[in-house]
Amino acid sequence: MDDFLATNRDHWDEMAELHPGTEFYDVESFVGGETSLMDLEREELADVVDDDTSLLHLQCHFGMDTLSWAREGATVTGIDFSSKAIETARELRDEVGIDEERARFVESNLYELPAVLDDAYDVVFTSYGVIFWLPDLTRWAEVVDHFLTPGGTFYMAEIHPFFGMSEEVGEDDWIRLPYDYSGDEPMVVDEEGSYADEEAAVQQTQTYEWNHGVGDVVTALVDAGLEVEYLREFQKSTYKRFDGMVEGDDGWWRLPDGPEIPMTLSVRATKPEGN
Ligand SMILES: C[S@@+](CC[C@H](N)C(=O)[O-])C[C@H]1O[C@@H](n2cnc3c(N)ncnc32)[C@H](O)[C@@H]1O
Repeated sequence: MDDFLATNRDHWDEMAELHPGTEFYDVESFVGGETSLMDLEREELADVVDDDTSLLHLQCHFGMDTLSWAREGATVTGIDFSSKAIETARELRDEVGIDEERARFVESNLYELPAVLDDAYDVVFTSYGVIFWLPDLTRWAEVVDHFLTPGGTFYMAEIHPFFGMSEEVGEDDWIRLPYDYSGDEPMVVDEEGSYADEEAAVQQTQTYEWNHGVGDVVTALVDAGLEVEYLREFQKSTYKRFDGMVEGDDGWWRLPDGPEIPMTLSVRATKPEGN
């Protein structure tokens, strides 16, 4: 693993320690039976996830979404390169009483996964805050393709790259665009706290991130041999990015008085039969 990813992994080990205790993740409700999935991915995958589905969750963090898919009936495998995240995911699985055969968690760098896992899956899933940690989308899409059964479905719900370019600066001039929309060079980000707890004391504040434009996402999937069904953009966010955003009863954050800007995207693609 190169230095950039090793630095990011240190950051994520800390986040995996911090996040289960945050209100943002609300583990208590999850343990009590609530899903951590948003309505978006549940609706857009409703026709392919059932009791016979095998699902691979890439960059699963500490496993709440992976385990939520298991509660929807799927047999799931969650992978993440943070050992702390994987350890916590296994503890959470045991706490909510899901068998190891129904939900397993594997520690691996995404790019090294084909050397670690043998299986093929009906669904490869990934969501919210994932691809901007990955320098190379071509290789990412090849990994996705590698793990899909012919006829299988890839699905991603993700923070829109517009958010990756932007930061808030103040009321009059409230969005600045300091980062590139897309590019091979990493953005060096140095932020205190975490999106789940802005006040948290974090040691590894510096991270390396790669914003990927929507064209790069679609092109990488098509080049890997997948058939893209759609790429949709939404003016709502899973988290409060800017002041003025308001949370709806559905758990999505919107900007009622701001301009219409893309905040979330979803992509669904199929691996052709016979490939
Ligand atoms: C923002 S989190 C995903 C969040 C998830 N949607 C959730 O809320 O639980 C991003 C995850 O990507 C993982 N990650 C980053 N780079 C990775 C890589 N190269 N290989 C595997 N996992 C990686 C991090 O450890 C982290 O758990």
